[in-house]
Amino acid sequence: MCRIFAACLKDGKVSPILKTGLKRLEYGGYDSAGMATIDNGNLEIKKGVGKIDEVDRIVNFESLNGNIGIAHNRWATHGYPSITNAHPLTDCTGEIAVVHNGVIENFLELKEELIKNGHEIKSRTDTEVVAHLVEEEVKKGNDLVKACLKAIKRVEGSYALAIIYSKEPDKIVLIRKESPLYLGIGKDGNFASSDPVAFVDKTNLMIPLEDYELAVITPYYYKIYSIKDEKEILRNPVEIDIKPQMIEKGGYPHYMLKEIFEQPISLYYAINVQRLYLNAIAEPMSRSKVNFLIGAGTSYHSCLAGSYMYSKISGLATIPVVASEFIQQYGNTLDPDTSLLLVSQSGETADVLKVASYARMKASTVMSITNVVSSTITRLSRLYLVQQAGPEIGVAATKTYTSQLLIHLLLALEIGKKREKINENEYNEYYTKIRSIPKAAEFVLKSTDQKAKQAAEMLKDYTHIFYLGRGINTATAFEGRLKMLEIAYIPSSAFSAGESKHGPIALIEKNTPVIFIAPKDESRKVILGNIMEIKSRGGKIITLGTNDDRELKEVSDFYIDMPEADELITPILYILPLQLIAYYTAVLKGLDPDKPRNLAKSVTVE
Ligand code: M6R
Repeated sequence: MCRIFAACLKDGKVSPILKTGLKRLEYGGYDSAGMATIDNGNLEIKKGVGKIDEVDRIVNFESLNGNIGIAHNRWATHGYPSITNAHPLTDCTGEIAVVHNGVIENFLELKEELIKNGHEIKSRTDTEVVAHLVEEEVKKGNDLVKACLKAIKRVEGSYALAIIYSKEPDKIVLIRKESPLYLGIGKDGNFASSDPVAFVDKTNLMIPLEDYELAVITPYYYKIYSIKDEKEILRNPVEIDIKPQMIEKGGYPHYMLKEIFEQPISLYYAINVQRLYLNAIAEPMSRSKVNFLIGAGTSYHSCLAGSYMYSKISGLATIPVVASEFIQQYGNTLDPDTSLLLVSQSGETADVLKVASYARMKASTVMSITNVVSSTITRLSRLYLVQQAGPEIGVAATKTYTSQLLIHLLLALEIGKKREKINENEYNEYYTKIRSIPKAAEFVLKSTDQKAKQAAEMLKDYTHIFYLGRGINTATAFEGRLKMLEIAYIPSSAFSAGESKHGPIALIEKNTPVIFIAPKDESRKVILGNIMEIKSRGGKIITLGTNDDRELKEVSDFYIDMPEADELITPILYILPLQLIAYYTAVLKGLDPDKPRNLAKSVTVE
């Protein structure tokens, strides 16, 4: 879950470029940061604990000279955050430096062996062994590329690695297995990173590396090898679909707020995904005996909401499952008649990728929805749909959630038509409603922003918040709760409102805040009953309901007016004020919503 960045320039100092890239990658890990360059044949390293700016204030990254270097943002997996454990990590001679994203599973075994061979291991990380394994190989007379090819065969686990060696000062070796890694091919030099956003202002050409591939970049050329047979692989660069201006904050104080307000646009792009691909995915889903919808965190919530859409529009039963549980819970049931729709914003979530590989082994149909066109999930899927929401930098998923919801809705429509559950007229009517979503989202964002600030002011000091919804908006309750707890650190619970009587109500005391998601849909009547049960026990009722719902307004302590919308569209609109409330609560508490503690944007380890 760390992020790596490597750059070698034909001319000029690399450290400012590495620092800018690291800042763009900060969403992936920010408990320590580090950089190594080669200057006049010497390896120089600066690193420290904390966010990049904090580390930079102490070490001054730009004081590093040299035209070639590697850099790292850390999200600790092995070894607490400390200067010693921060990357880059070096071998005994201090000539080889390594940065790594992933987990080396057999590091203890390798460490023991290396210590027996006289190596001094300084850090508690799983990564350092790689530097020493390469050292062993160069001692035998191998050049850097050969040494890395040999060393990596000893390593088990997942990795995106960048390695430099001061005795071969024009080369960077990159190695990939199960962690994302992209080469950037530029005019003024070459680059490599866990995410092309790091080098998008330097080149618009990239090459995604595949598992078990090793690449070497110099300022003038790149080469790719297969680790298995050490043969060279020829691969041309492809164009990057991200523009530099898409990754700036655009005047907003945080990426999260920018991304919340970008939703009218990202929803518009989602509506315009190609019908051809929708149809291609709808086909196996319509035919399969069993359909699973799989994701983690927010993407799972979109699957949960999606399951109501598939059922209501197309009469198709789908089973939403959390990715990390899927293989144990349903693995044994997979067969060629089963379809899996995997949802992952990043396309790199380890639990989701594991499901994809497993399902392929069972000859099930693997399909996916992702926001990252060149991500690993696209290579594991028979068919995939790209959300086109633009890069999401804030750790909390916002615009990619609503765009996932919209794509589920579009798929449900296609399937409904194929299964003849809706006729041409109904299909067209739905499309008319769907086309109005971006405008409705814009309206909701504008009209609820002030109220969201007031709600945040009211909620910020509470130690627990409930989120209750019914039907499809059970997913909205789950997602609103996740936003609040992950960025504002307020413990929160979410239930389907019907469940409240079965336990959660025991926690209601005078003034316990309970947020109800209560659009005018078929559960509106019952949810009123649930509100009354909480109210009569002293709970503070905060309701999101339609602006003409006088009955709900009367029983609520705080009311957020929402426009009327089709039931299946409400999750897209009702989550917007909940995202804003979580954002403003975090800001009022003095927290950085873009970088919640302990979290990374994409979780590339199991
Ligand atoms: O990239 P993915 O959609 O696969 O990520 C899944 C979760 O890690 C992600 O949604 C996470 O829960 C976010 N922090 C939610 O805001």
